[in-house]
Amino acid sequence: MKLTVNIDHIATLRNARGEFEPDPVHAALIAEKSGADGIVCHLREDRRHIKDHDVFKLRESISTKLDLEMAAVPNIIKIARKAKPDLATLVPERRKELTTEGGLDLQKNKSSLKKTIDLLHEKEILVSLFIDPVKSNVEIAKEINADMIEIHTGKYAEAKSKKEKLKQLNLIRDIAKYGKEIGLGVNAGHGLNYINIFPIIRIKEIDEVSIGYAIIVRAVYIGLENAVKEMKNIIKRK
Ligand code: PXP
Repeated sequence: MKLTVNIDHIATLRNARGEFEPDPVHAALIAEKSGADGIVCHLREDRRHIKDHDVFKLRESISTKLDLEMAAVPNIIKIARKAKPDLATLVPERRKELTTEGGLDLQKNKSSLKKTIDLLHEKEILVSLFIDPVKSNVEIAKEINADMIEIHTGKYAEAKSKKEKLKQLNLIRDIAKYGKEIGLGVNAGHGLNYINIFPIIRIKEIDEVSIGYAIIVRAVYIGLENAVKEMKNIIKRK
């Protein structure tokens, strides 16, 4: 299983003072040096953390792969086509949310998502769809030509009871298996941390996990290099 590190919150901290530090590109390079298999950033429509120039600088500077999280809206699609990340992960976006709160509504947005996927494919950008673990989502993802899915692990991460956690874990496992069976790449992310990652790493169909908040929080205490290494060591144990 691979680890991609989301560096949005490095930009959040930088923007808190309107300064240049900490620099998300510098952080991305440290994460790569410490074992990250890829770097993720989310260019939100409100630009609350990552800015356009970060995406272009990351594209130039990193040597692993760049995964750009984005909403399927014209002005962001335009930037993605220009920046050419290795992967674009399409996510729903609501202005007031603190973070991405749910998966895409594939049924409702099928045709616009299909158009977005085609536009990104034209520039040889692979496309992943961030989905809740529901079978029909996987079927639609395949139908509209997505290359992979990212299973939203938020409900699993936030589950309060053991029973609910297990239920969510089973859903993730089933959807990961189904995704693989029909030929999609399978990623997972949201709310994963140094504890709840353990059952996830046993799901062999998951190719990659995307983790941000927990790693950046840990980095405050032990440094980014150690925080990434620690997570990478857990994931490698599989
Ligand atoms: N995957 C997606 C699609 C996300 O939107 C986010 C949050 O930006 C993550 C993964 C990472 O979530 P977290 O910061 O909780 O690790």
